[in-house]
Amino acid sequence: MFKKIILVMLVTSGLLFAAKVGDVTGTKTLKVDMNMTKLAASCVQCHAKKTPGQVNEWRKSRHGHVGVSCLDCHVVKKDSPLAGQNCPGVKGTNTYISVVVTPKTCKRCHPNEVKQFDQSGHARAAIQIKSKAGMQALMHKVEAMGDHKFINSPEATGCMQCHGTVVKVKNGVPDPATWPNIGIGNVYPDGSVGNCISCHSGHLFSIAESRKPTACASCHLGPDHPDKEIYNNSQHGHIFNSEGSTWNYTAAPDAWEAGDYRAPTCAVCHMSGIGSLKSTHNVSLRLKWNLWAPISKLRNGGYETAVPNYLKKGKFTKGNPLAGNPKGSAAARAQMKLVCKSCHVKTFTNNFFIMADQHVGLYNVYAKEAKKMFDTLKKRGLIKKDKWSDTVFKTWYHLWHHEGRRMRQGALMGGSDFAHWNGVFVLQQDIRVIRTIYNKRMKSGKIED
Ligand code: HEC
Ligand code: HEC
Ligand code: HEC
Ligand code: HEC
Ligand code: HEC
Ligand code: HEC
Ligand code: HEC
Ligand code: HEC
Repeated sequence: MFKKIILVMLVTSGLLFAAKVGDVTGTKTLKVDMNMTKLAASCVQCHAKKTPGQVNEWRKSRHGHVGVSCLDCHVVKKDSPLAGQNCPGVKGTNTYISVVVTPKTCKRCHPNEVKQFDQSGHARAAIQIKSKAGMQALMHKVEAMGDHKFINSPEATGCMQCHGTVVKVKNGVPDPATWPNIGIGNVYPDGSVGNCISCHSGHLFSIAESRKPTACASCHLGPDHPDKEIYNNSQHGHIFNSEGSTWNYTAAPDAWEAGDYRAPTCAVCHMSGIGSLKSTHNVSLRLKWNLWAPISKLRNGGYETAVPNYLKKGKFTKGNPLAGNPKGSAAARAQMKLVCKSCHVKTFTNNFFIMADQHVGLYNVYAKEAKKMFDTLKKRGLIKKDKWSDTVFKTWYHLWHHEGRRMRQGALMGGSDFAHWNGVFVLQQDIRVIRTIYNKRMKSGKIED
């Protein structure tokens, strides 16, 4: 009933708009060919026996229904840097395939999603790590304990599975140190960046899956960004956990509204169209603050530039931590408030954000004092050369990177346990640890044993 009304509204408003202004530039033409070519059918037939898992999922997917088949995503030109013939069905023919499928392929049919993704913080996830010497040292020297045959395991089993990496392919065979992975910001040999299977796992490629919190939870969890745990702690998560399995997740983008769900999931607040808001693949668009950096600043940096810079310069330059909404941080917050508007009144939403923003302000007071003490000691040579054995460095790191993110993200997403017990309560202890050692070292001019 509810969905019918929305559909009718959409259709009639579209007609009215077209009739009034006569502008049909937004009208799409989509030609769908239900019949597969002989070659395309051969992939499905043989793979139904050899790798039935993939074919069974594909058959149930929207792609299966519209005849987008194995060939459309896996066949590449002979001169593609991904090309190979590691499949008995094509070996020795002039058909070349790739097991690695990049956003460049999806872009042929989904150009808007790829463009928006490229403008988001997700797009810098691997480039950022590649561009920073400190990150490389952490993975390869500190964690892997130096240069030996195990040097790549911390990256390959950890960082890369969330952030992505530079995927290398030779003669159609990907390098095991770089693939497979579901990391969100992969950089591919064909120049494209990102990873659509991070949220839409293959071969279902489903919109329903991506709208549930589980689509984000495989990366947004743990001590340094416990967004899933914060969500579970919030009233919204409480409602989702109680009845979310019965909600409707299949409405078209921009037509998925309050009523299909009773409380927002991660996607509703960060990506989906709701009310007058448009659906987006740029998760940074509705963010006012940077809540992961050591000091939280307003996001007034425009779009993320990691991808265009990489394409222009061919090397990895640092991303833009203050990327967000191109119209600025106030516009970002206004958009986030539009999300709340379908279910809460202005007074409720405004009051919530006033107190949550105050908690970010309070965090900055702690962080600025701690950073100042750390910087002063460093300047005076009073931080140990091996910083990971220095209590001041370690406490400062945990203050901003772990408990400080919990405090900020907990406050802004309604997770009281993280705003408080896992957040500010730990910070008030951290700052005391740093102050005590700071005073000692400043007085003695020496690092204690
Ligand atoms: C919409 C695009 C798309 C379609 C259609 C598609 N695939 Fe894939 N396929 C992918 C993506 C994306 C991956 C993951 C690649 C990566 O991680 O780089 C993948 C992975 C694979 C893999 C390796 C995965 C593994 O777990 O071993 C095989 C084999 C494969 N696909 C075969 C097929 C077959 C057979 C069909 C047709 C029934 C098909 N694909 C249809 C996009 C597609
Ligand atoms: C006669 C059977 C047959 C046909 C036809 C066939 N395949 Fe395969 N394909 C296989 C088998 C078997 C494998 C290897 C599976 C394995 O390694 O476990 C394979 C592997 C693959 C892989 C993974 C390659 C890799 O690097 O591991 C992809 C992608 C793939 N096929 C796509 C296709 C596409 C696209 C077509 C149609 C153009 C096709 N296949 C036609 C049997 C076939
Ligand atoms: C040759 C064109 C083509 C390619 C290539 C393609 N898609 Fe699609 N995709 C479509 C069409 C057409 C639909 C709409 C089907 C429908 O729902 O009627 C669709 C639908 C989808 C959906 C929505 C599914 C749902 O549950 O409603 C997702 C998600 C998606 N594609 C992701 C991808 C990803 C990721 C890739 C690359 C790995 C990709 N597509 C490659 C044509 C394509
Ligand atoms: C479980 C998934 C996961 C793992 C493993 C992981 N990260 Fe992250 N990382 C994230 C998420 C999610 C964020 C975003 C946090 C936020 O927005 O508050 C993030 C943020 C970051 C940032 C800040 C963002 C930026 O652009 O500067 C850096 C740097 C970073 N991670 C580096 C690493 C490195 C290096 C490793 C391995 C030593 C690693 N991460 C391991 C998920 C992960
Ligand atoms: C961070 C998770 C995430 C990633 C990564 C992601 N998507 Fe999505 N995608 C979503 C969500 C959530 C929706 C539903 C948005 C809504 O509710 O309006 C969606 C919707 C879509 C749709 C619309 C389906 C339809 O029915 O019309 C397509 C197409 C799509 N995504 C393609 C892609 C492509 C291509 C990529 C890779 C560039 C990608 N997605 C990467 C989360 C993601
Ligand atoms: C495969 C891992 C992965 C998945 C799945 C994932 N993310 Fe992320 N996300 C990351 C990483 C890594 C970062 C940090 C990127 C950076 O700043 O370098 C991040 C950053 C973010 C940010 C902050 C962006 C910024 O500009 O600082 C938001 C918001 C976000 N993700 C929301 C989501 C939502 C919502 C979903 C699910 C619909 C999701 N993510 C799914 C890995 C993931
Ligand atoms: C009720 C809406 C809502 C829901 C549900 C929600 N978020 Fe958020 N999220 C926010 C708000 C508001 C902020 C703070 C934005 C700002 O003002 O900067 C935020 C911040 C974040 C950030 C921090 C970005 C940074 O700068 O470090 C990440 C990451 C994130 N959310 C991911 C998620 C994930 C993953 C989920 C689901 C498990 C989720 N969110 C659920 C509203 C929501
Ligand atoms: C789809 C509807 C929906 C959306 C969208 C939504 N909420 Fe909620 N929210 C609810 C429901 C339902 C409850 C539980 C109501 C109750 O217990 O009175 C709730 C509860 C809350 C609570 C805790 C309950 C309380 O009374 O203190 C806060 C805080 C909250 N929402 C903030 C937000 C903010 C901020 C946004 C936008 C970023 C938002 N919500 C978006 C439906 C929604």
